[in-house]
Amino acid sequence: MISKALALMMVLLSLSQGTVANYEDQMSLGGTLFLVNREYMITADYVPDDLVMPNVRRNSSSVLMRREAAEALEALFNAAKEEKGYTLVAVSGYRSYQTQQSIYNRRVKNAGQAKADLYVALPGSSEHQLGLAMDVGRRSNTKLKASFGKSPEGQWLAENCYRFGFILRYKEEWTETTGYAYEPWHIRYVGLEHSLRVQKLNIPFEDYIALLRSAQQTSEQGEGS
Ligand code: DAL
Ligand code: ZN
Repeated sequence: MISKALALMMVLLSLSQGTVANYEDQMSLGGTLFLVNREYMITADYVPDDLVMPNVRRNSSSVLMRREAAEALEALFNAAKEEKGYTLVAVSGYRSYQTQQSIYNRRVKNAGQAKADLYVALPGSSEHQLGLAMDVGRRSNTKLKASFGKSPEGQWLAENCYRFGFILRYKEEWTETTGYAYEPWHIRYVGLEHSLRVQKLNIPFEDYIALLRSAQQTSEQGEGS
Protein backbone atom coordinates (compact mmCIF):
# COMPACT_ATOMS: atom_id res chain seq x y z
CA MET A 1 0.00 0.00 0.00
CA ILE A 2 1.40 3.32 -1.08
CA SER A 3 1.85 5.90 1.73
CA LYS A 4 -0.21 9.08 1.76
CA ALA A 5 2.90 11.24 1.66
CA LEU A 6 4.22 9.41 -1.38
CA ALA A 7 0.84 9.62 -3.09
CA LEU A 8 0.69 13.37 -2.43
CA MET A 9 4.20 13.75 -3.82
CA MET A 10 3.23 11.89 -6.99
CA VAL A 11 0.20 14.10 -7.49
CA LEU A 12 2.17 17.26 -6.76
CA LEU A 13 4.84 16.34 -9.25
CA SER A 14 2.27 15.93 -11.97
CA LEU A 15 0.59 19.28 -11.31
CA SER A 16 1.36 22.60 -12.89
CA GLN A 17 -0.26 25.89 -11.88
CA GLY A 18 -2.50 25.75 -14.94
CA THR A 19 -3.85 22.31 -14.17
CA VAL A 20 -4.58 23.20 -10.53
CA ALA A 21 -7.03 25.89 -11.63
CA ASN A 22 -8.49 23.45 -14.12
CA TYR A 23 -9.12 20.86 -11.38
CA GLU A 24 -11.27 23.36 -9.48
CA ASP A 25 -13.67 23.39 -12.43
CA GLN A 26 -13.59 19.64 -12.77
CA MET A 27 -14.31 19.15 -9.07
CA SER A 28 -17.34 21.47 -9.15
CA LEU A 29 -20.85 20.26 -9.92
CA GLY A 30 -20.99 19.66 -13.66
CA GLY A 31 -17.31 18.65 -13.75
CA THR A 32 -16.19 15.07 -14.25
CA LEU A 33 -14.37 14.98 -10.89
CA PHE A 34 -17.36 15.98 -8.77
CA LEU A 35 -17.43 13.86 -5.62
CA VAL A 36 -20.88 12.79 -4.52
CA ASN A 37 -21.50 10.57 -1.51
CA ARG A 38 -23.34 10.65 1.81
CA GLU A 39 -21.30 13.68 2.84
CA TYR A 40 -21.43 15.64 -0.41
CA MET A 41 -24.94 15.57 -1.80
CA ILE A 42 -26.69 17.10 -4.79
CA THR A 43 -30.14 18.62 -4.93
CA ALA A 44 -33.23 16.90 -6.29
CA ASP A 45 -33.41 19.20 -9.29
CA TYR A 46 -29.89 18.50 -10.63
CA VAL A 47 -30.09 16.98 -14.12
CA PRO A 48 -27.00 17.00 -16.40
CA ASP A 49 -27.68 18.92 -19.61
CA ASP A 50 -25.81 16.67 -22.03
CA LEU A 51 -27.27 13.21 -21.47
CA VAL A 52 -27.13 10.87 -24.47
CA MET A 53 -27.80 7.21 -25.14
CA PRO A 54 -24.47 5.38 -25.57
CA ASN A 55 -24.28 3.21 -28.64
CA VAL A 56 -23.64 -0.06 -26.76
CA ARG A 57 -25.50 -3.24 -25.97
CA ARG A 58 -27.97 -2.58 -23.16
CA ASN A 59 -30.72 -4.40 -21.31
CA SER A 60 -32.87 -1.37 -20.54
CA SER A 61 -33.42 2.19 -21.72
CA SER A 62 -32.18 3.60 -18.39
CA VAL A 63 -28.59 3.86 -19.53
CA LEU A 64 -28.15 7.50 -20.49
CA MET A 65 -24.80 9.10 -19.70
CA ARG A 66 -23.21 12.50 -20.16
CA ARG A 67 -21.81 12.76 -23.67
CA GLU A 68 -18.11 12.48 -22.79
CA ALA A 69 -18.73 9.49 -20.53
CA ALA A 70 -20.99 7.83 -23.13
CA GLU A 71 -18.27 8.08 -25.78
CA ALA A 72 -15.71 6.62 -23.38
CA LEU A 73 -18.12 3.79 -22.56
CA GLU A 74 -18.48 2.97 -26.24
CA ALA A 75 -14.69 2.78 -26.59
CA LEU A 76 -14.48 0.58 -23.47
CA PHE A 77 -17.16 -1.87 -24.66
CA ASN A 78 -15.63 -1.99 -28.15
CA ALA A 79 -12.22 -2.81 -26.69
CA ALA A 80 -13.70 -5.64 -24.60
CA LYS A 81 -15.17 -7.07 -27.78
CA GLU A 82 -12.14 -6.56 -30.01
CA GLU A 83 -9.45 -7.60 -27.54
CA LYS A 84 -11.24 -10.46 -25.80
CA GLY A 85 -14.50 -11.17 -27.58
CA TYR A 86 -16.42 -10.17 -24.42
CA THR A 87 -19.85 -8.60 -24.74
CA LEU A 88 -20.44 -6.14 -21.93
CA VAL A 89 -23.98 -4.91 -21.29
CA ALA A 90 -25.06 -1.51 -19.98
CA VAL A 91 -27.58 -2.09 -17.18
CA SER A 92 -28.12 1.20 -15.35
CA GLY A 93 -26.76 4.66 -16.14
CA TYR A 94 -28.29 8.06 -15.36
CA ARG A 95 -30.97 7.96 -12.66
CA SER A 96 -33.02 10.93 -11.62
CA TYR A 97 -33.38 11.81 -7.94
CA GLN A 98 -36.91 10.38 -8.04
CA THR A 99 -35.80 7.12 -9.66
CA GLN A 100 -33.05 6.75 -7.06
CA GLN A 101 -35.67 7.30 -4.35
CA SER A 102 -37.86 4.52 -5.79
CA ILE A 103 -34.92 2.11 -6.07
CA TYR A 104 -33.90 2.88 -2.48
CA ASN A 105 -37.45 2.47 -1.13
CA ARG A 106 -37.90 -0.81 -2.96
CA ARG A 107 -34.62 -2.19 -1.61
CA VAL A 108 -35.50 -1.17 1.96
CA LYS A 109 -38.84 -2.95 1.59
CA ASN A 110 -37.26 -6.12 0.18
CA ALA A 111 -34.00 -6.36 2.12
CA GLY A 112 -34.27 -4.04 5.12
CA GLN A 113 -32.59 -0.69 5.67
CA ALA A 114 -29.14 -1.94 6.72
CA LYS A 115 -28.70 -4.01 3.55
CA ALA A 116 -30.21 -1.30 1.38
CA ASP A 117 -27.74 1.25 2.72
CA LEU A 118 -24.83 -0.99 1.75
CA TYR A 119 -25.85 -1.11 -1.90
CA VAL A 120 -28.11 1.79 -2.77
CA ALA A 121 -27.33 5.45 -2.26
CA LEU A 122 -29.94 7.72 -0.81
CA PRO A 123 -31.38 10.09 -3.43
CA GLY A 124 -29.04 13.04 -3.81
CA SER A 125 -25.97 10.98 -3.01
CA SER A 126 -25.71 8.74 -6.07
CA GLU A 127 -23.18 9.05 -8.87
CA HIS A 128 -25.92 7.79 -11.16
CA GLN A 129 -27.64 11.18 -10.82
CA LEU A 130 -24.46 12.78 -12.20
CA GLY A 131 -24.77 10.80 -15.44
CA LEU A 132 -21.18 9.64 -14.95
CA ALA A 133 -21.76 6.12 -13.61
CA MET A 134 -22.74 2.88 -15.31
CA ASP A 135 -23.61 -0.52 -13.90
CA VAL A 136 -22.21 -3.15 -16.23
CA GLY A 137 -23.21 -6.77 -16.77
CA ARG A 138 -22.27 -9.49 -19.23
CA ARG A 139 -24.29 -11.00 -21.98
CA SER A 140 -25.00 -14.28 -20.20
CA ASN A 141 -25.89 -12.62 -16.90
CA THR A 142 -26.86 -9.03 -16.28
CA LYS A 143 -27.65 -9.47 -12.58
CA LEU A 144 -25.61 -7.08 -10.45
CA LYS A 145 -23.97 -9.58 -8.11
CA ALA A 146 -20.52 -9.89 -6.52
CA SER A 147 -19.91 -12.96 -8.70
CA PHE A 148 -19.60 -10.61 -11.70
CA GLY A 149 -16.19 -9.65 -10.27
CA LYS A 150 -14.98 -13.25 -10.70
CA SER A 151 -16.24 -13.61 -14.25
CA PRO A 152 -13.76 -13.03 -17.11
CA GLU A 153 -15.73 -9.96 -18.18
CA GLY A 154 -15.76 -8.55 -14.63
CA GLN A 155 -12.04 -9.13 -14.24
CA TRP A 156 -11.31 -7.53 -17.57
CA LEU A 157 -13.47 -4.53 -16.64
CA ALA A 158 -11.63 -4.09 -13.32
CA GLU A 159 -8.23 -4.28 -15.01
CA ASN A 160 -8.97 -2.18 -18.08
CA CYS A 161 -11.65 0.44 -17.40
CA TYR A 162 -8.99 2.97 -16.36
CA ARG A 163 -7.65 2.98 -19.95
CA PHE A 164 -10.89 4.68 -20.99
CA GLY A 165 -11.26 7.20 -18.15
CA PHE A 166 -13.27 5.05 -15.73
CA ILE A 167 -12.55 3.86 -12.20
CA LEU A 168 -14.00 0.95 -10.29
CA ARG A 169 -15.62 2.95 -7.54
CA TYR A 170 -16.52 0.40 -4.85
CA LYS A 171 -13.73 -2.12 -4.35
CA GLU A 172 -14.07 -4.69 -1.60
CA GLU A 173 -11.19 -3.29 0.45
CA TRP A 174 -12.54 0.27 0.33
CA THR A 175 -15.90 -0.36 2.01
CA GLU A 176 -14.94 1.56 5.13
CA THR A 177 -14.07 4.67 3.11
CA THR A 178 -16.82 4.53 0.49
CA GLY A 179 -19.56 3.30 2.82
CA TYR A 180 -20.75 0.77 0.24
CA ALA A 181 -20.31 -2.96 -0.27
CA TYR A 182 -18.22 -4.40 -3.11
CA GLU A 183 -19.79 -3.46 -6.44
CA PRO A 184 -17.64 -4.89 -9.26
CA TRP A 185 -20.25 -3.72 -11.78
CA HIS A 186 -20.25 0.03 -10.94
CA ILE A 187 -17.83 2.17 -12.92
CA ARG A 188 -17.48 5.94 -12.65
CA TYR A 189 -16.14 8.23 -15.36
CA VAL A 190 -13.47 10.67 -14.16
CA GLY A 191 -11.52 11.28 -17.39
CA LEU A 192 -8.31 9.69 -18.57
CA GLU A 193 -5.82 11.90 -16.75
CA HIS A 194 -7.35 10.99 -13.41
CA SER A 195 -8.25 7.36 -14.07
CA LEU A 196 -4.59 6.72 -14.93
CA ARG A 197 -3.50 8.28 -11.66
CA VAL A 198 -6.16 6.57 -9.53
CA GLN A 199 -5.17 3.25 -11.08
CA LYS A 200 -1.53 3.84 -10.20
CA LEU A 201 -2.28 5.01 -6.66
CA ASN A 202 -4.98 2.34 -6.12
CA ILE A 203 -6.98 4.48 -3.69
CA PRO A 204 -10.70 5.27 -3.27
CA PHE A 205 -12.03 8.33 -5.09
CA GLU A 206 -12.66 10.04 -1.73
CA ASP A 207 -8.92 9.79 -0.97
CA TYR A 208 -7.96 10.91 -4.47
CA ILE A 209 -10.06 14.07 -4.20
CA ALA A 210 -8.56 14.74 -0.73
CA LEU A 211 -5.10 14.39 -2.30
CA LEU A 212 -5.94 16.82 -5.08
CA ARG A 213 -7.19 19.32 -2.50
CA SER A 214 -3.97 18.97 -0.47
CA ALA A 215 -1.91 19.31 -3.62
CA GLN A 216 -3.83 22.46 -4.51
CA GLN A 217 -3.25 23.96 -1.07
CA THR A 218 0.43 23.09 -1.16
CA SER A 219 0.82 24.58 -4.59
CA GLU A 220 -1.11 27.77 -3.60
CA GLN A 221 1.09 28.21 -0.52
CA GLY A 222 4.15 27.90 -2.73
CA GLU A 223 2.85 30.51 -5.15
CA GLY A 224 3.54 33.53 -2.94
CA SER A 225 7.06 32.54 -1.95
N1 DAL B 1 -25.02 1.58 -5.90
C1 DAL B 1 -24.52 2.92 -5.73
C2 DAL B 1 -23.91 3.11 -4.39
C3 DAL B 1 -25.62 3.92 -5.99
O1 DAL B 1 -26.77 3.63 -5.70
O2 DAL B 1 -25.31 5.01 -6.42
ZN1 ZN C 1 -24.12 1.77 -9.82
